[in-house]
Amino acid sequence: MAEWTKKSWQKFEALQQPKWPDAADYEKAVGTIAKLPPLVFAGEIRAMKEELAAASRGEAFLLMGGDCSEAFDNCTAPAIRETLKVILQMAVVLSYAGGKPVVKVGRMAGQYAKPRSADLETIDGVSLPSYRGDMVNSPGFTEAERIPDAQRMVQGYHLSAATMNILRAFTKGGYGSLERVHAWNNEFVKASPMGRNYERLGKSMNQALNFMRVVGIDTNTPQFNQAQFYTSHEALLMGYEEALTRQDSITNEWYDCSAHLVWIGDRTRQLDGAHVEFLSGVKNPIGMKVGPNHDLDVIRALAQKLNPENEAGRLTFITRFGKSIEDHLPGLVRMVKKEGINVVWCCDPMHGNTYTAETGHKTRNFNDILEEIQCFFEIHWAEGSIPGGVHFEMTGQNVTECTGGGRNIVDKNLGENYQTNCDPRLNAEQSLELAFQISEMIRQ
Ligand code: PEP
Ligand code: CO
Repeated sequence: MAEWTKKSWQKFEALQQPKWPDAADYEKAVGTIAKLPPLVFAGEIRAMKEELAAASRGEAFLLMGGDCSEAFDNCTAPAIRETLKVILQMAVVLSYAGGKPVVKVGRMAGQYAKPRSADLETIDGVSLPSYRGDMVNSPGFTEAERIPDAQRMVQGYHLSAATMNILRAFTKGGYGSLERVHAWNNEFVKASPMGRNYERLGKSMNQALNFMRVVGIDTNTPQFNQAQFYTSHEALLMGYEEALTRQDSITNEWYDCSAHLVWIGDRTRQLDGAHVEFLSGVKNPIGMKVGPNHDLDVIRALAQKLNPENEAGRLTFITRFGKSIEDHLPGLVRMVKKEGINVVWCCDPMHGNTYTAETGHKTRNFNDILEEIQCFFEIHWAEGSIPGGVHFEMTGQNVTECTGGGRNIVDKNLGENYQTNCDPRLNAEQSLELAFQISEMIRQ
């Protein structure tokens, strides 16, 4: 086997790459990014891997959430804060019920590139290149907006840095303090039954914290007044990921410093493909989406290639089966158990449950999402494996993109505030509601 380098992927076929119109401009863009500082650091990535190793053993629970496709326009302090708040709220609900730490991960600070089923999108007889994420082109339906522009990768890098900066400020600067659980309640959600449930939980947490102080425990420590928050995105644009891949000066190992965890999508996990080659050599925790069209032999070989030493915390299988979960998950779990492969099992109940509403909106129903999560837990319990986490497309905004939930959004409401550039997201209230539902499943 040829030796891995951060460029060795170039000898393999890379699916889902944009057709950049100007090669020189593309080289200039990735060259610019390669000189800029890393977005995250190797030490943080290693810490995350340890937390994921705990999740693989059932000693922690993974919560990943954020936009399907982050929008450049949404890189604002309020938008980032609202999504962070909901993830922190969900994490409190889950850790309180489950009695385990929650590994908090945003699909944030770099989730700007999308794989697409079709190269072209056709509206009223006009065909244009598909939207491939803000780092590639723009969602507007004009030719100028859809032509891939490599400079958007540079812009995406800078906006990821700005997002990372505010996330660090919020989580390390006091906002993420457990004493502030009340402050994370979302204005829009506050008055709902979910908001009130959350207030109650917050009160009981504050009582617990007060009690600790009364008996002399110092709560002015990072465990109490800071939140550990990690970032993730799909490692799709190979040139961008290569440009942010750096050698750690302490261990000499290579890390993709574009995010803490990078995942490989269901469409780009070919055993002999460029994405797998690239990710096999970086030491980050790697997520891998697994959908209904998988082959058990290929998954076994992928685990071997991506994690030859079977290190715990290295691999997270993010399963996304939708209604066919009963047909696929048990067999996959049995194979993994039989082979002794270490993984975190994470449920993505979004991507197998998408449908088009009568209004033409791409949507997902709350009950379908909940059902897939329930099946996920039940199958793992029945098989004696560990349901280690969940993965959502969600936002802190009050959007109407998924149907159902406490406010019972129906198809005809979808147009009221449908904002996503790609897949439909749970809004703040639906996200919190799911966290409460999951907390019932994992309650100790
Ligand atoms: C996604 O997570 O937005 C995505 C494209 O997922 P998948 O690769 O599972 O289809
Ligand atoms: Co998506």
